[in-house]
Amino acid sequence: MGTPLLDVHNLTVVYGRTDGVYAVRDVNLTLHHGEFLGLVGESGCGKSTLAYAIARLIKPPAHIAQGTVTFREHNLLGLHGEALRHERWEHLAVVLQSGMNALNPLMTIERQFFDVMSQHTRWPMSKQRERVYELLEMVHVERRFASCYPHQLSGGMKQRVAIALSMILEPELIIMDEPTTALDVVVQRTILDNLMEIRKAREFAVIFVSHDLGLVLEIADRVAVMYAGEIVEAQPAEQLYAQPLHPYTRALLKSVADPDDIRERRFSGLPGHPPDLHLDSIGPGCPFYPRCTEHEDRCRNEKPTLSPMGPESVVSCWIRRKEPVDA
Ligand SMILES: Nc1ncnc2c1ncn2[C@@H]1O[C@H](COP(=O)(O)OP(=O)(O)O)[C@@H](O)[C@H]1O
Ligand SMILES: [Mg+2]
Repeated sequence: MGTPLLDVHNLTVVYGRTDGVYAVRDVNLTLHHGEFLGLVGESGCGKSTLAYAIARLIKPPAHIAQGTVTFREHNLLGLHGEALRHERWEHLAVVLQSGMNALNPLMTIERQFFDVMSQHTRWPMSKQRERVYELLEMVHVERRFASCYPHQLSGGMKQRVAIALSMILEPELIIMDEPTTALDVVVQRTILDNLMEIRKAREFAVIFVSHDLGLVLEIADRVAVMYAGEIVEAQPAEQLYAQPLHPYTRALLKSVADPDDIRERRFSGLPGHPPDLHLDSIGPGCPFYPRCTEHEDRCRNEKPTLSPMGPESVVSCWIRRKEPVDA
């Protein structure tokens, strides 16, 4: 498949000092050109922290304690100032969580597009204007909204505009953190359909962060499941659905099968909560052990590592690793 677009190696992100909260722990992840990766897990599992670390949007008290992020064969963690600004927007863009309002409330919609274009291109005004209209059309927002302020748009429209903004310079990677979570189901659906339609026209890679495994299974090529700051399983979407490996993934899938769970944002198949991620609270064994219905003795004291289970699957689970897997 050639050199991956993104290669995250042993990445650890800590909030506070070294005895603080280990929100992302020793994560390894690769993403190929044009690949759509879904990153799922319950709230508090470290998904946003991982996404922001990759995009270099981590701010104190959080810091990267360990690891590397290689993007387009550059060490992203070593870039600063102008070089980092160049990488953002032109090669990598971020769509923040819906409702977090990535748009500047004091600027008209078109102004926000012009701002990015005048910083990153030498396009004349006519070309910039044309690009705004083209992008708004792509996300099905009428032209007349270009001169409006964000508060004049609905939540769904604002999120469409945020997606359009991320695509101004046709980056190879767009990181989306729960881009539709705060929106109602119908609006969410139309935005996702739109996203898939845009991807048919132009290939780019996506890291799509969501707590909703059902939704991610529909749209992603590959799914990585996070638990307690770690990736515990990754597989192509259909394979993960047909043959989930980790007991945590199985529990999440059980909730997907029950529509009330999704609506209520709870996980009936899985009592309890993800663990506290303070260094001194993290036990020596599998972090999922206390909630796992399949555990055995060694799970309590020995930590499993993420290991290949097939050509495209990895899992971090002692029990699964003993079982032969059908090819
Ligand atoms: N500003 C912060 N200070 C301390 N801990 C934080 C902060 N933000 C997030 N965390 C902790 O980091 C962990 C991961 O959070 P987050 O990345 O937001 O997870 P997710 O996106 O999966 O819900 C959680 O345990 C959370 O409590
Ligand atoms: Mg989050």
